[in-house]
Amino acid sequence: MHQIALKKGCLILLSAVLLILSPVDKASAWGADGHRLICAMAEAKLTPEAKSMLSETLRMGKFLDNNADEDFPEACLWPDKARHTTHKGSYEEHFINVPKSEDSVDLARDCAALNCVATAIQRNLVYLSRDAQGKREKARKAAALRFLAHFVGDLHQPLHVGNGEDWGGNKIRVNWYGKKANLHGIWDYEILKKAGITYPDSLEYLQEIKPEDSASDVLAWIRTSFRLARDNAYKDTEGNLIASGDTLGDAYFERAKPIVMSQISLSSSRLAYLLNELAAGTLDTNILIVQ
Ligand code: ADE
Ligand code: ZN
Ligand code: ZN
Repeated sequence: MHQIALKKGCLILLSAVLLILSPVDKASAWGADGHRLICAMAEAKLTPEAKSMLSETLRMGKFLDNNADEDFPEACLWPDKARHTTHKGSYEEHFINVPKSEDSVDLARDCAALNCVATAIQRNLVYLSRDAQGKREKARKAAALRFLAHFVGDLHQPLHVGNGEDWGGNKIRVNWYGKKANLHGIWDYEILKKAGITYPDSLEYLQEIKPEDSASDVLAWIRTSFRLARDNAYKDTEGNLIASGDTLGDAYFERAKPIVMSQISLSSSRLAYLLNELAAGTLDTNILIVQ
């Protein structure tokens, strides 16, 4: 009896150590502060109707995980926790990968078994557009809001539309200012960290960045991320493909920084756009992927 308990204890300890040491995919897209900034900036752009829809839906969290009073920036972090715990099936919904040999996004090919960030956004928009009656529907609606807000942020991280072969850069190990890092993590949080971007201190600075927005639907947003990944994230400033063992420095950082700022800013205005349209009941179905 004691031996079994001891064995079990050792196994749990070993798993915990392995989890901590695991080299890939510890990253949450944009890091926690990136997601908080996106959601806080989106919230500031909401109409009064969208603001009340937002707080009403956040309160439905009571039926999801007994968390009814989370503020929006914190609620936006939940999907990165849920994908490893209560909602393991949502793992693929944080990204979409394209084969290295292809030069454009093809949903039929790349949205594995119809589950990726594109279909997840579509599905959660549909849940949010419906009335929620019972507890189960309210729980699903609360989850849909947290997922939507998080995934709109995720798809703007270029390497969340990355290469299937290298898991969106997770498998590419490079040297980053004297430490080991993986390319995916550099785009998730290292660039933000080096640029000194934190929540809430950087809100004002980011709110001044207003990139022009010509893409009008979810697939176009994904395609822009894909091009940014191929042309910038996966290449050094001389145009060479980055490989494990490379060292990335100032030239790479200086080119990447404005891209990250602009993508964060676009995430927030596009998320606000979706929530405002949902609240007004005027969401243009052309924004959706499957009509
Ligand atoms: N795991 C596999 N591919 C990934 C990607 N593109 N982004 C984040 N995590 C991943
Ligand atoms: Zn990520
Ligand atoms: Zn994510």
